[in-house]
Formats: sequence, structure tokens, C-alpha cells
Amino acid sequence: AKGEYDHFMKKEITEQPTSLAQAIEGRIDPQAGRIDLEAFDDGAFADVGSVQLVACGTSYHAALYGAFALRDAGIQATAVLANEYSVAAPPVDDETLVVAVTQSGETADTLQALRLADAAGAETLTVTNVVGSTAAREADDALFIRAGPEIGVAATKTFSSQVVMLTLLAQRISTDLTGEASVDLESLLADLSRLPDKIERVLEESNAERIARQYEDCVSYFFIGRGLGYPVALEGALKFKEITYEHAEGFASGELKHGPLALVTPQTPVFAIFSGQEDEKTLKNAEEAQTRGAPVIAICPDDHPAVEVATDHLSIPDTRSELAGLLANVQLQLVSYHAANLLDRPIDKPRNLAKSVTVE
Ligand code: F6R
Repeated sequence: AKGEYDHFMKKEITEQPTSLAQAIEGRIDPQAGRIDLEAFDDGAFADVGSVQLVACGTSYHAALYGAFALRDAGIQATAVLANEYSVAAPPVDDETLVVAVTQSGETADTLQALRLADAAGAETLTVTNVVGSTAAREADDALFIRAGPEIGVAATKTFSSQVVMLTLLAQRISTDLTGEASVDLESLLADLSRLPDKIERVLEESNAERIARQYEDCVSYFFIGRGLGYPVALEGALKFKEITYEHAEGFASGELKHGPLALVTPQTPVFAIFSGQEDEKTLKNAEEAQTRGAPVIAICPDDHPAVEVATDHLSIPDTRSELAGLLANVQLQLVSYHAANLLDRPIDKPRNLAKSVTVE
């Protein structure tokens, strides 16, 4: 039940400190610098040559985040839209691990990609929320994100849990392949264990409602980010268009000047995500939009240089670049939610959409 909340979406956004704590519980030991993924003994991923992540929609954005995390860890990885997999799959061999990222475990496009990968001889794994789902039954292995039921059609808490799960998977594969994680694992895991509290702070202190009101009457809403901020920009835009019915697009920050800048006017606010990866370049890209009159809303910590430059600010606590996007994403979920609420949209059941898409 929604309880004190007007919408499941708001309830599920607010649940993220708990759902993330559940995702990492028993799986990380920050002191020992260890990641334990249930069925996977040490060395279980030692023969992984490359990783392909297949998914749709919001889960694809998590998959893209995961692919960047894997590549950061030195592993060859790519995210492919599951509905493109049958026409554009990268080559597969018996050292390819194909990971189907799917909240419901029932998305037809994703199941189809999983079956094609299996038939091509790949090892398959699903990262899913639903125990007993088709993906969980059909893949060779499953990792459950333990986010709890998600009722709102717009995926929120499952996205953050998928990202955390894929971040852990990246470091486990790296450890199994090379004998050590690609980063200081004690420090990454300690920061991960602090993430639920930081999300709580974002939820308590967010000015997203004021921002949503401020830019209520605009024409289009743009979201930009670089590196791990890029999938978050795509996700920010998808959520926004899905529940407000307003036009929104996400771009890699550096792409803005290669075309989309032609759309930028004072009526197109630009939400700029600063994930701590070449932020100075993203700031320059944002300023190019600002010069054309667009309001820029910076999503970054209070002491970030972008705060001085931007028109507005959505604050996130300081954290490492691997996790900053998740904090930014909570702010963007709240902006979309409040914008849709102001427009009186049926937030939990947007028109034309279904929670689980079981047709190709
Ligand atoms: C958007 C949304 C969809 C799903 C997509 C995949 O808010 O929820 O884009 O992410 O349909 O669904 P799953 O993860 O169940 O495979």
C-alpha cells in the first residue's frame, strides 16, 4: 500500500536508502575489502573474457552505467539495447558473459536477447528483482537486487539497486581475473556502505520541488552528463518524459555542440550532472548552453565550481565518482516527480505504458 504517500513512485523513491542497504547486505565487507556474491565462489569469473549487458529502458541505463564501471575496471564490456541484439549483437564466444539486466525478469526483448546469447554459446547471468522470473529461470545464474516490489510504472529504486549490483559485479570480475580489484576496494566498499545515508540526506534536503515549479512552463528539458553521468542524463530524461509527457532528452555533455545546441533557447533548461569525471569539460558544455540563454541547473556538491556558474543548483553530498551519479539520479527522480505532480499527471500509471513489457 502507498501508506502516507500520494503515489507509489514517491514511496519507492523514498525507499532507496533501505533498498540499497538490502542490495549490499551480506555482500560487502569493507574492512576485509571483500565482495561476496552468494553462489559465486572466489574465482568464479576467472574465465570471463568480455561482458555484454543487454536490457531495455531504465534497465538499459543501469546496464550502460555497469558497462562503464566494467571498462573502468579494465574489463572489455558493452551495453546493447536488448531489442537491437538480434540485429546488432557483438560477437560472442565461450568466454563472453552476457548479463541480462531486467527488473521484472519478464521483458520479452531482454529474454529474446538472453536466448540468442545462450544459443551462441555465451555464459548468461541475469541481474533482476524478481525471484522465480523467466530471466532468473532461464539464465545460467542470477543475482537478485532485493529492491522489494516496485509498483509505479516508472522504475526508480530498482535502477539504483541495479547500478550498485553491477558496480559490485565489476569489481568481483576484476578481482577474479587479476587477483585484485581495480580500485582500493576497502575505500569503495566503505563509501558504498555510506551511500544509503547520503541518499537519505538528499531526500531530506532536496529543493527539487522548487526547481520543478521554477521551470514549469518550458518547452524542452535537457539532461547532460559525462562518463558515469551520461547514463544518468539519459535516465533523467526518460523519467521526465515518461511521467510529465513533456519533451526531454539526455545527451553526453560533449555531444551538445554536435547538434543539440541548435535546440537550446531560454525555454530549454539544461540539467548538468557532475560525476567527478572531467567536470571542467561538462561545465564548459553547460556554459555554451547558458550563453544561448538556457538556464543551467547544476547537480553537484555545494563546494563544486559549477555552483558559481549555474543558474540553479540541486545539491548532492560529496562522494566518489563511481557513486555520485546515483545521488544525482535521486534529485532527478524528484524533479520529474514534482513536475508531473504540478501537471496533475497519473504518475503511477503513465498513458500508453505498462510495468512489464511482454511483447517484442
Ligand atoms: C522506465 C521503465 C522501463 C523499463 C523497461 C525494462 O521507467 O520502467 O523503461 O525499465 O521496460 O523493464 P525491465 O527492467 O523489467 O526489463
